[in-house]
Amino acid sequence: MKRHLARRGFIRTAAAGSVALAWLGSRRLSAASAADAAKPALLGGTPVHQGGWTRWPQWRESWEPEILKVFRSCRWFRGSDQRVSEFEQGYAQLLGARRCLATASGTTALMVSLHVMDVDAGDEVIVSPYTFIATYNAVLNSRALPVFADTDPATLTMDPASVASRITDRTRAIMPVHIFGMPCDMDPINAIARQHKLAVIEDACQAWLAEYQGRKCGTLGDLGCFSFQESKHMPAGEGGAITGMSDVLIDKCDSFHNCGRAVGTNKGSGSFTRGNNYRMTQAQAVLLILQLEKIVKETEIRRQNAAHLEAGLRQIPGITPVRLPQNSRAVWHLYPFRYDAAHFNGLSRDQFAKAVSAEGVPCGGVYREQYYDGLLDEAIASRGFRRLWSAERLKAYRDSFQELKGNKQVCETTVAITQNMLLGNSSDIDHIVEAIRKVHAHSAALAKAMA
Ligand SMILES: Cc1ncc(COP(=O)(O)O)c(C=O)c1O
Repeated sequence: MKRHLARRGFIRTAAAGSVALAWLGSRRLSAASAADAAKPALLGGTPVHQGGWTRWPQWRESWEPEILKVFRSCRWFRGSDQRVSEFEQGYAQLLGARRCLATASGTTALMVSLHVMDVDAGDEVIVSPYTFIATYNAVLNSRALPVFADTDPATLTMDPASVASRITDRTRAIMPVHIFGMPCDMDPINAIARQHKLAVIEDACQAWLAEYQGRKCGTLGDLGCFSFQESKHMPAGEGGAITGMSDVLIDKCDSFHNCGRAVGTNKGSGSFTRGNNYRMTQAQAVLLILQLEKIVKETEIRRQNAAHLEAGLRQIPGITPVRLPQNSRAVWHLYPFRYDAAHFNGLSRDQFAKAVSAEGVPCGGVYREQYYDGLLDEAIASRGFRRLWSAERLKAYRDSFQELKGNKQVCETTVAITQNMLLGNSSDIDHIVEAIRKVHAHSAALAKAMA
């Protein structure tokens, strides 16, 4: 595995690797093969898991008549039929949201939400740094500055205690990210937002059906954004949604995503307000409607397997499962844990991941410190950003990345497996634990061999 495989690359590799690993069948172990089994696979032993993993994404033959019907109808555009609205109603109901608006992608859902919550050129938005890069890009697209709160190493989500100190007179919104489908601690975040009159836009792009205090993610702030990109739990190739409890806000989202056409409560001064085309197609909507029940069932399977996995991982020194906020339920888009090399004879995080992957359990690090990737340097060096902020503010902004100590730690020590691995049976989950335990037991030999 490349040193820092991007999340999507990692997800693809894990899913493809699951196909490549042939099922060798159950075998009685001879004395020689028992010795092999005890040896780490990376040092010539037999991999713990040889059965492959559930493929992702999935296709069902039973979906074909419905999908074909859309294509044969030649009514593909949102305005030509009712399937997109049907999906919106179904998804809103699933989440307990008052309204839902389907969009072309999760990124466009974020862009629409930022516009509707009045984030404008020269504003600042407090975001979680531990996320897919689209979260940063959506804010930059509004010509606003993504100001990073720190990440809590125990939860991998926005540390509410670090939010208040980031607020300036330009801050308009907070954008917490329910990363890997793990809910952020929303009560303190919402309290700070209320106190400072800031909007809250949830990046729930990985958190379909995740719950916090009995309510679904995406209904906890002003607006919630979802992605249905191909790697996601409800994939449609591309696709997104905005959910919320306010007709006024969702009507504004509807207008903005539909070239600014006046909709419902959003009449504008004439027939148009500002807008873009971020519409979902009928075919995407049908694919999503067909998966509304599937995601509910699979979420429960992932949760049960995650609980089983957590119990096993807790027994291994140097492996720390993530802490969720009280009374919350994750949906595990990735299943992460923290790795402490000191308990593994100094085996680096990437060496550990390589050794565990060799056992037939693909895993790896996820996000790195993306604020050093050049994207933000390019933005703040641009003519537009230099017009909008003083040189002192941009310098202080760049320098402030060094304060993200929690996030740095998270980027360096997190290891994750992909969601499709949580769709197997309990012996698959036992294999994940066993593979990590084996690497732990042989960490001295592995460290020596990999030095
Ligand atoms: C946390 C997060 N935010 C935003 C996005 C963007 O969604 P999309 O790829 O549908 O544009 C993603 C998708 O991977 C994501 O994981």
